Amino acid sequence: MQQVQDYISKNKERFLEELLDWLRIPSISADPQYKGDVQRMAEAVADKLRAAGADKVEVSPTAGHPIVYGEKIIGDHAPTVLVYGHYDVQPADPIDLWHSGPFEPVIKKTELHPQGAIFARGSCDDKGQVYMHVKAFESMLACDALPCNVKFMIEGEEEVGSVNLGKYCEENREKLRCDVVLISDTGIIANDVPSITVGLRGLSYVEVEVTGPNRDLHSGIYGGAVANPVNVLCDMISSLHDENRHITIPGFYDDVEEVSTADRAEMAKAPHNDAAYKKALDIADVQGEAGFTTHERVSIRPTLDVNGIWGGYIGEGAKTVLPGKAFAKISMRLVPHQHPEKITELFARHFKSIAPVSVKVEVRPHHGGFPVVTPTDTPEYKAAHNAMETTFGKAPIPMREGGSIPIVALFEQVLGVKSVLMGFGLNSDAIHSPNEHYGVFNFYKGIETIPHFYSNYAQLKQK
Ligand code: BES
Ligand code: ZN
Repeated sequence: MQQVQDYISKNKERFLEELLDWLRIPSISADPQYKGDVQRMAEAVADKLRAAGADKVEVSPTAGHPIVYGEKIIGDHAPTVLVYGHYDVQPADPIDLWHSGPFEPVIKKTELHPQGAIFARGSCDDKGQVYMHVKAFESMLACDALPCNVKFMIEGEEEVGSVNLGKYCEENREKLRCDVVLISDTGIIANDVPSITVGLRGLSYVEVEVTGPNRDLHSGIYGGAVANPVNVLCDMISSLHDENRHITIPGFYDDVEEVSTADRAEMAKAPHNDAAYKKALDIADVQGEAGFTTHERVSIRPTLDVNGIWGGYIGEGAKTVLPGKAFAKISMRLVPHQHPEKITELFARHFKSIAPVSVKVEVRPHHGGFPVVTPTDTPEYKAAHNAMETTFGKAPIPMREGGSIPIVALFEQVLGVKSVLMGFGLNSDAIHSPNEHYGVFNFYKGIETIPHFYSNYAQLKQK
């Protein structure tokens, strides 16, 4: 192990430089204009896997963006770890709010990252974290110290719902056979408070369209007599929460897991400071479901949020118009044991039922995903726990998080294996926002921790 750690410290600067090359590729999966860049990024992942020593590296086309695979098999005696991650990124908009180009990585110090942070789209989510795995793998191989079989599956559609990955897993069950999936696409509480993610929320995502009159109207001639779809949509959306910020869709909470008082008390031990939270976001107060703490609201409770809303005139100056249509994109984060399709169905039925007869309403479902909770009494959890304890000098805290990685539930269903969510980002790293960044400390800490995971896992998994 010492040799591996020495190799890492000797090659640190090169590792960072190489990551910056990845970050220069705008692999935005949501925007068809970037299809070529996404392809180029897949090739770049394959190149680095090959250079690190992986065998059978391939870039497999799908109906969407390609999936990159590579492996190193050392023998039947050793357990097999499947490393999953994604090389696609979210769109960079709003571009104007970036202090430097989203695909021109720069390293700057911040209050939380005194050693510097890499500013670029995808630096934390998830290229920087995938690269930690590639470099940890290179380091173990270079020192002839790889104790497990390793398979890499790095996809290009996580940010658009992993719509083609399920099929790939089903068609490649044998190739992907493994004992555990290892994922770094989540965070830790703070750089001096390590944590391991043991829960992710699910997702149901819909787009709604409200249609009023058959054309845009003069808001003076018709305003007051004809339903304005934008006004109606706002009324409908605001009725989706009551005064306690409970969601009003009938049946929405039916399957929600009630977390026990004991578990809630355990969760409350994780450090969280509402004052610092508010200050960091420049908000005077937090808001959420009555009876729950901030951390509970973003982890064990389901939510409903408008992600985007539009309609009518949004150009320069003022145009007096009563728009013919209004739209919104709405996401619902789900908790165990809510079912994404059932929730979408409940939403659609309710949303249509509350529409006044003066408008027509359409609900179009987008992607979704199941929530997951991972156990803590497994060899993989212990391996991650001990690895982080070694490199951070402090035992990590198990923590449920609010984001979603829809494919994790599918790994359980299709491959029959659990995942361990050992991520190294911070909530304040601005993933999906302008000025996304990833701490240089976190990048190196990840590379150092991963080899410990492998060696612990190989030992713990031994019969
Ligand atoms: N890395 C995130 C998920 C995440 C972030 C989990 C922080 C836990 C903490 C992932 O790339 C992501 O953004 N997922 C999407 C999924 C969606 C597009 C289906 C999400 O959560 O919005
Ligand atoms: Zn993301």
